[in-house]
Amino acid sequence: MSIITTTDKSFQLLKGESLLDGLERTGHEVEYQCRSGYCGVCRLTLLAGKVSYDEAPLAYLGQSEILPCCCTVIEPIRIECRAGRQGELPVDTDQYTLDI
Ligand code: FES
Repeated sequence: MSIITTTDKSFQLLKGESLLDGLERTGHEVEYQCRSGYCGVCRLTLLAGKVSYDEAPLAYLGQSEILPCCCTVIEPIRIECRAGRQGELPVDTDQYTLDI
């Protein structure tokens, strides 16, 4: 089982689980539409490691971009993806404490 390292977490994919499913299971909210390599909405940046595809996806992929819905992780990878909703900034809870 390959280790997936995102911006916030590390985890292992379960047997038969797609990278997109694994990201969702571990609290990452990745945008998606087709879940089969057509639309490109799920694309993420691969920072290290390799993935492969059973069939070449129809969606355009730039250099270092991967489609987590249809790729196969073939070795430990590091990807740019945050836990929680994309676009949300992490909340610094210390900033909102109130001493009474
Ligand atoms: S969700 Fe459409 S290519 Fe991944």
